Amino acid sequence: MKIAIINGPNLNLLGKRETDIYGNMSFDKYLNTLEAKFPQVEFTYYQSNVEGELVNELQRTGFDFDGIILNPAAYTHTSVAIGDAVAAIKTPVIEVHISNVHSREDFRKLSHVSGKAVGSIFGLGLKGYELAVIYLLEK
Ligand code: DQA
Repeated sequence: MKIAIINGPNLNLLGKRETDIYGNMSFDKYLNTLEAKFPQVEFTYYQSNVEGELVNELQRTGFDFDGIILNPAAYTHTSVAIGDAVAAIKTPVIEVHISNVHSREDFRKLSHVSGKAVGSIFGLGLKGYELAVIYLLEK
């Protein structure tokens, strides 16, 4: 079982960035706990602050991986290119947001990805990534 986790801009600052919203844990540390919990899963982790690089990684993993867990961060709300990439690939994509994007500013309510993803998880903190893994394992 191969699962790609793809995180968008500023998520490299998890643990340091707006900790009241995103929490105190770095993603690298969280990834260690995920890998320990799911030894049967081969994870790849990719983070970029650059829109086109996220499109490239979706295309790279989008045909022979079993699942993609994608948090496009701010590009969720602006990127037609990332939405199109999710529509173009074959691997099922689960959209994850750490915060509850629907309880924040109005601009965060628009997602170019939700309509093309299998489903979306938001507002459950980093736990959302784990729930996405469980979904992909059980489906
Ligand atoms: C986010 C929500 C986005 O609106 C924001 O731009 C992010 C993180 C989240 O995980 O809650 O950078 O995707």
